[in-house]
Amino acid sequence: MLNFDFYNPTQIVFGKDRLGELDNLIPKEARVLILYGGGSIKKYGTLEKVKENLKNRVVFEFGGIEPNPKFSTLMKAVDVVKSEDINFLLAVGGGSVMDGTKFVAIASKYIGQNPEKLLEYGFENVPVDCAIPLATIVTLPATGSEMNNGAVISHNGKKVPVFSSHTFPKFSILDPELTYSLPTTQVANGIVDTFIHTVEQYVTFPAEGRFQDRTAEGILLTLIEIGKKTIENPTDYDSRANLMWCATMALNGLIGAGVPQDWSTHMIGHDITALFGIDHAKSLAILQPAIWEIRKEQKKLKLLQYAERVWNIKEGSDDEKITLAILKTREFFESLGIKTYLSDYEIKEEQIEDILKSLELNKRTHLSETGDLTLDITRKILKKALKK
Ligand code: NZQ
Ligand code: ZN
Repeated sequence: MLNFDFYNPTQIVFGKDRLGELDNLIPKEARVLILYGGGSIKKYGTLEKVKENLKNRVVFEFGGIEPNPKFSTLMKAVDVVKSEDINFLLAVGGGSVMDGTKFVAIASKYIGQNPEKLLEYGFENVPVDCAIPLATIVTLPATGSEMNNGAVISHNGKKVPVFSSHTFPKFSILDPELTYSLPTTQVANGIVDTFIHTVEQYVTFPAEGRFQDRTAEGILLTLIEIGKKTIENPTDYDSRANLMWCATMALNGLIGAGVPQDWSTHMIGHDITALFGIDHAKSLAILQPAIWEIRKEQKKLKLLQYAERVWNIKEGSDDEKITLAILKTREFFESLGIKTYLSDYEIKEEQIEDILKSLELNKRTHLSETGDLTLDITRKILKKALKK
């Protein structure tokens, strides 16, 4: 097992009817800014309930954070924070709202410098000493943003990660019932995003991380068990609760501690989303099977473990087992209604070069758990991902 630090200070408040806790969790004297997206929380009554439970606190609202949240939108929220002397941020929404709120939390304290600089640090922590405290109320289980310190921000046609040790939410409220209103395609996105977060930290090379591997396998098996069920029965509480907890645990540092991590699928996926506007999870569903096809040798031992322990494939040669596991993964995504080829999203062969140019510009040229995934290999992956 590799050396690691594990630190996660976020309090999780899980279950039905937990919004009443807001009164205990947020300081009484706080000046609160509620941040949200395009309006789903208004439509389904969540905003009203949140405001009721904030009681007599001074409360402001900032709506309109779009999917793949934009720097320019978030800077408008920073203006509100400054002009209204806000000292607590409450994100109510999915990954985009939570990520956007994290960015607002640090940009509001980045005094005297151009906040665009905050987009230049990649996976390193940005150099800030503090942030406005933030918390989240999750309405879309997918990204794990509710229990990590990462954000992904869009600016000038790029999607970039932003990390800070100051952006762990103070608390996150996870009420599965708040997700019942999700459209089917967003639930499917959540399942796929959680699945890929898990395999990016699991299908690498063996590192004797037995707890991490078994936990990753537990998440994957749970997703396979409840995936279709929670799409077909949106108000089946236990299926939705299991999805929600898997999404949080897949990206809160637990399964990735002490083991190699890949993240190629996410890095290439971000450029596909930035160029073509394809949902985050859908970009991942296109890439993952193709990446494994091309990287069978480098990932052989973990792909075999994945085939045997997750898909229960015990017969055949190593290559047959791996091929079948990749096929079953693709079929799982498709069974949720998520298409897995670039051509399904009207992307043509000549546009592969645009993706590669973007990756080069964004310095995504040495990806994978060993840094050996070059643009030439990515070209092969994208060609494999083009069509059936
Ligand atoms: O904006 P509203 O009107 O709220 O509608 C949203 C949005 O259109 C809707 N929605 C959310 N909750 C709903 C609902 N509709 C009905 N009922 C509800 N309960 O869903 C749509 C998509 O929301 P979004 O937040 O964009 O989706 P998701 O949670 O999948 O987040 C994706 C973003 O998170 C980033 C992605 O790159 C992308 O920008 N990620 C963040 C990560 C992190 N912080 O650790 C890791 C991930 O890998 C990912 O990169
Ligand atoms: Zn993701």
